[in-house]
Amino acid sequence: MGRKIVLTSGKGGVGKTTITANLGIALAMLSKKIVLVDADIGLNNLDVAMGVENKIVYDIGDAAENRCRLKQALIQDECFSSLYTLPSAKSIEPNKISSKVFSQITEELSQDFDYVLIDCPAGIEDGFHRAVSGASEALVVTTPHISAVRDADKVISLLSSYSIKKVSLIVNRLKGKLVKDGSMMDAKDISQLLRTPLAGAIPDDDNININSQINKTKNMKDAAQLSYILLAENLEGLHNRVYDCSYGYRGIINKIRNIFRG
Ligand SMILES: Nc1ncnc2c1ncn2[C@@H]1O[C@H](COP(=O)(O)OP(=O)(O)O)[C@@H](O)[C@H]1O
Ligand SMILES: [Mg+2]
Repeated sequence: MGRKIVLTSGKGGVGKTTITANLGIALAMLSKKIVLVDADIGLNNLDVAMGVENKIVYDIGDAAENRCRLKQALIQDECFSSLYTLPSAKSIEPNKISSKVFSQITEELSQDFDYVLIDCPAGIEDGFHRAVSGASEALVVTTPHISAVRDADKVISLLSSYSIKKVSLIVNRLKGKLVKDGSMMDAKDISQLLRTPLAGAIPDDDNININSQINKTKNMKDAAQLSYILLAENLEGLHNRVYDCSYGYRGIINKIRNIFRG
């Protein structure tokens, strides 16, 4: 049985879709079998982020209403053969897919995949309820900005009323220079504040733009890519490290001290 993990935040625009896509790639690099589920019914962001929007024949609405078999709606990634996307339905009313049906879909997927990553819509209404009902673990995404941290706090308390057995945190859009000079909260501070274990820290990445949220090179080497690899390895239980966004901004003396501290 694979793991069913929802990426949620309360606040929109904090990077759930971008992280779902990149985490999928990083897990595929670890030879895992992954399906990314777009739970933002009515909108389609994940298929665009994955660059598969022109390949859609069936979507989650067709699978939910038995117009196709679930497997027929999955789109295999061009670069990573173990990575699939289940696109959202654009043409049906979101409430046509009940939480029960959505849960059945994620449950069925978990029979075949190591990871079912569910990209949750913004807000804490029906779409949130549907997406969270289909998961057994949650990754709460926030940025270091106070409004996002507050919403993450609300979402974390809401999650306690669902059967979610593990909740962890991802802090996105960290700016190393600001963290270093103390004008931006560090991921570890936010994790303490929210009393939620940290699964990942992702740097603010100037290279991200609307058409290129992910870099599908098999050789991940820039800071953002490395941070996703660490996140994926963390989920796999290989270690408990997150990317240190302020590393490049520390003086040489501090770096040497850190090396000696191990
Ligand atoms: N680490 C990052 N650095 C820079 N821009 C980012 C980062 N993560 C996300 N973004 C940008 O922020 C915007 C919102 O991201 P998105 O993943 O769509 O958020 P959500 O799914 O939470 O609404 C997008 O334009 C995306 O490119
Ligand atoms: Mg999104």
